[in-house]
Amino acid sequence: MNAIPETVFRSREVERVVTGASVSDGAGVKLLRVLTSDLQRRLDPFLMLDEFRSDNPDDYLAGFPNHPHRGFETVTYMLAGRMRHRDNAGHEGLLTAGSVQWMTAGRGIVHSELPEQENSLMHGFQLWVNLPARDKLTAPDYRDLPAEAIPVYAADDGVTIKVIAGESDGVAGAVQREATAPLYLDLELPPGATHTVAIPPGHNAFVYIYQGQVELGRRGQRVAARQLAVLSNTPESDGVLLRSADGARLLLIAGRPLHEPIVQWGPFVMNRREEIEAALADYRDGRF
Ligand code: FE2
Repeated sequence: MNAIPETVFRSREVERVVTGASVSDGAGVKLLRVLTSDLQRRLDPFLMLDEFRSDNPDDYLAGFPNHPHRGFETVTYMLAGRMRHRDNAGHEGLLTAGSVQWMTAGRGIVHSELPEQENSLMHGFQLWVNLPARDKLTAPDYRDLPAEAIPVYAADDGVTIKVIAGESDGVAGAVQREATAPLYLDLELPPGATHTVAIPPGHNAFVYIYQGQVELGRRGQRVAARQLAVLSNTPESDGVLLRSADGARLLLIAGRPLHEPIVQWGPFVMNRREEIEAALADYRDGRF
């Protein structure tokens, strides 16, 4: 394994810092909504990012009973706890610590996501990745990736990198997607670490800190836990520089923008209003 990080000559800088908002979703699950609809254009192809983290069962036990999705992909990454998935395409899976579920809703799926523990910490993330117009009505698909299936490597300065999707320092991630080319990394920086991550020019990118604090870019802008940093999308930049004085854990997510209209109604994300109406009718009439 080549432990020398790719050289980033011109780092992206922090364009904007967003602090997550506490919301309740599903049957009353408390979570932190980090990427909201006002960022969907700027962070195209990403539609949503939630962090759920609680050791109080009242915050998560009710889970997400049966609900539909159409037109995009959901990526659930668990750090702690257990969550059972069941859907109307006959898939069933148990998400455990370190595992990822990559679900393509496509033309429609009805599923439930229910915690399978009665106490202790539940911690993870759900990211929504848009599908291009031509794939929005594709057949639903579902993949469970156990922790062992997620490539992980150590870089300089003791930085640990899990490659959930895309490619980093020549290490191919567990999932590849042609249209949106998502890069999804989970990085752990020990105290004093400096690390660079290559990001394709033109792709939209953000960093979400879930533990500790990071200084981003040549300017070293400080971003703290529970904050998302939108990275500038300057054509001459080839990556981002990360530093952490006291150590940090963060997600780095980037992707190729689709530049297509986005029309969302709750769990349906299409290109046109009429397609949302069709989704509602199809769901109501049991055609999912
Ligand atoms: Fe869902």
